[in-house]
Amino acid sequence: MRKSINELIEEIRKLKRELNAVILAHNYQPQEVQEIADFVGDSLELSIQAMSTDAKVILFAGVDFMAEQAKILNPEKIVLIPDKQARCHMANMLTVDQIRKFRERHPEVPLVLYVNSLAECKAYADYVCTSANAADVVKAIDAEVVALGPDANLAAYAEWRTGKRVLPVPECGHCYVHKLFRPDAVRELVDELRSRGENVVFIAHPECDMDVLKIADYVGSTSQMLKFVKNLPSNITVVYATEVDMGVRFRKERPDIKFVPANPWAYCIYMKQHTLEKIVRALREKRHVVELDHAVMKKAREAIIRTFELLGIVDKLPRR
Ligand code: 13P
Ligand code: SF4
Repeated sequence: MRKSINELIEEIRKLKRELNAVILAHNYQPQEVQEIADFVGDSLELSIQAMSTDAKVILFAGVDFMAEQAKILNPEKIVLIPDKQARCHMANMLTVDQIRKFRERHPEVPLVLYVNSLAECKAYADYVCTSANAADVVKAIDAEVVALGPDANLAAYAEWRTGKRVLPVPECGHCYVHKLFRPDAVRELVDELRSRGENVVFIAHPECDMDVLKIADYVGSTSQMLKFVKNLPSNITVVYATEVDMGVRFRKERPDIKFVPANPWAYCIYMKQHTLEKIVRALREKRHVVELDHAVMKKAREAIIRTFELLGIVDKLPRR
């Protein structure tokens, strides 16, 4: 017999206590998963949370590279991912072979990898950025030409923000969800809302195409967008270009504001693989354990810490 939501929540709480486990969830997770999480955030905040926890077990309700990042930062802890199909489409577009080939052609160009990349690739990176700090990282590097992958849109965004040349590796890496926004459709939607007298603000994630970013009033990571909407007056309508379920987070924060997705089909199937049933099973059976090669973890961790040093925030990070 299927358990009720309340029974599942009770079981998750009990298993968490028994295992000394913490649940970290990304902002795109379904509402019921966000509600049982100890912390919900963007990739940068989740990495910092993973560094600060005293729990023995981290259950990661996000996609593969996020769970790997938690393991890289906590090699001694058990990191669980409830469903192995939660594999970021973009992260899986970059291979070690592509990096090797790029390095051969451009040995002098520093390589920044977006956190949305696999651990085996991060081991070859000079720096690891997130959508929240990509432009800051590129700006802080002492070079006029920098490479960034796998998101070609994030590379273009960092180029736009910094004025430096940013080479995308590979050339066409992208997120299929953020490719679903078109500037003409956004303009049409915004014009229609304005014609009804609404006071519209358009916000977008830097994984969107440049022609979308250029018409945005604000561009930021999922949590940066959340902070932006927290400070808006109530008589605003926010049109947002990122995964549709960010609306859940926005509405929770600002129930007084109207939020309209720029495309209601912008749905990340990979993020939605986790359910309460799977979380119970993952905690009960300690599955699926994230396992990474020690040398890979060491090199990837070095690239992450080097980035925090570059940004001058290493002293502000939690220490265990
Ligand atoms: P954030 O770090 O902005 O939450 O982005 C992660 C992501 O995968 C967006 O598609
Ligand atoms: Fe990856 Fe795109 Fe899903 Fe984010 S929205 S996890 S980049 S596939």
